[in-house]
Amino acid sequence: MLQKSIIVTGGAGFIGSHVVRLFVNKYPQSRIINVDKLTYAGNLANLKDIEDKPNYRFVKADICDFDAMLSLMREEKVEGIIHLAAESHVDRSIKDPFTFARTNVIGTLSLLQAAKVFWESLPEKYEGKRFYHISTDEVYGALEMTEPQGIEPPFTTKASSGAHHLAYGEKFFTEDLKYQPHSPYSASKAGSDHFVRAFHDTYGLPTIVTNCSNNYGPYQFPEKLIPLFINNIRHRKPLPVYGKGENVRDWLYVEDHARAIDLIFNEGKIAETYNIGGFNEWKNIDIIKVLVSTVDRLLGRPEGTDLDLITYVTDRAGHDLRYAIDSRKLQRELGWEPSLQFEEGIEKTVRWYLENQDWMDNVTSGEYQKYYAEMYYGGGAG
Ligand code: NAD
Ligand code: TYD
Repeated sequence: MLQKSIIVTGGAGFIGSHVVRLFVNKYPQSRIINVDKLTYAGNLANLKDIEDKPNYRFVKADICDFDAMLSLMREEKVEGIIHLAAESHVDRSIKDPFTFARTNVIGTLSLLQAAKVFWESLPEKYEGKRFYHISTDEVYGALEMTEPQGIEPPFTTKASSGAHHLAYGEKFFTEDLKYQPHSPYSASKAGSDHFVRAFHDTYGLPTIVTNCSNNYGPYQFPEKLIPLFINNIRHRKPLPVYGKGENVRDWLYVEDHARAIDLIFNEGKIAETYNIGGFNEWKNIDIIKVLVSTVDRLLGRPEGTDLDLITYVTDRAGHDLRYAIDSRKLQRELGWEPSLQFEEGIEKTVRWYLENQDWMDNVTSGEYQKYYAEMYYGGGAG
């Protein structure tokens, strides 16, 4: 890797912790600086195995703090930035959009401006520098479901090579689609993506943007579908399925996303956008059934016992119907492909949560109970 000193923002979160772990282990000659505010979603326990490595440093800071970002970049002579810090949960964005605008838009702008000021002050300026912004497929809006029963996908990857293997529509998110975000979360991510591109086009900042599909795997905060439901099945708590459970998401194992980030950071073209996904579409209700049968099997319960926990609840406001990424550009240009079949990834993931109950207990104590109670039971006991 060219860059010797790299800031990863949001490194104590779900995807960020996998990125930090990969880079710290793979690039011992580089210095990896994890900048994280440690919001409810940030957890240093996610990085216990690498926290003592000599090439790792943690800095507790808010990306919105321009002065702190600039002085850290100067102090560490930062050459690369991989920006993951964000507010990331759609349901929270519906309740509190301001926090999303602040962190996702202003926070990204503050980092961009700090990078610009610092790099422009150097004799070599932008030479050898990279500002890599991690975004989501949700900025493209929602796709139609033309075939509720599913059709043959246009392309198969390892992720989608299992028994399920379906696409739920003809159209996919490609890099040239116009942005049509619907939720405050996706609107704030779209805003940040626009600022990143504007900094390239206006000042020549060497930027790259990627838009990835839904991730799953270890260390995901249990407000998102997969870890929330694994934990609820384990404790025989209700599984709140929004609407009819027919919405479709495209799922990628988090370590495959981290590998893509590594590849793109090192080999991606400046000013380009790459979509990341595995052509792996699932209706929520089908995933939930897989989760129930996997948890039941691993806990030695008769398979399907816990299907009675499924509880249909009021739909999410503005709930996007279908996300489906076309990642063929990344495959064609940089040779990336998912390494794991979905069924293998889900098995690994369920096992991890069941074996790491301490981690789950730790993140679901205190504030979490209050949030969960307000979210699903209108403020009553949770
Ligand atoms: P996460 O919520 O698990 O982690 C976010 C991290 O950012 C946390 O550690 C948090 O403490 C930190 N953070 C939040 N506000 C901050 C601030 N103001 N200053 C510094 N740090 C702050 O999120 P995630 O799921 O790991 O997502 C990471 C990135 O990937 C986000 O930008 C998200 O939009 C994007 N993304 C996520 C998914 C997904 O399925 N989770 C898919 C595509 C893209
Ligand atoms: P989520 O994990 O929040 O990711 P995103 O909204 O970014 O796609 O939700 C995944 C899907 O699961 C989405 O269609 C909403 C649905 N969902 C439920 O049905 N119940 C839940 O409790 C949650 C958290 C999500």
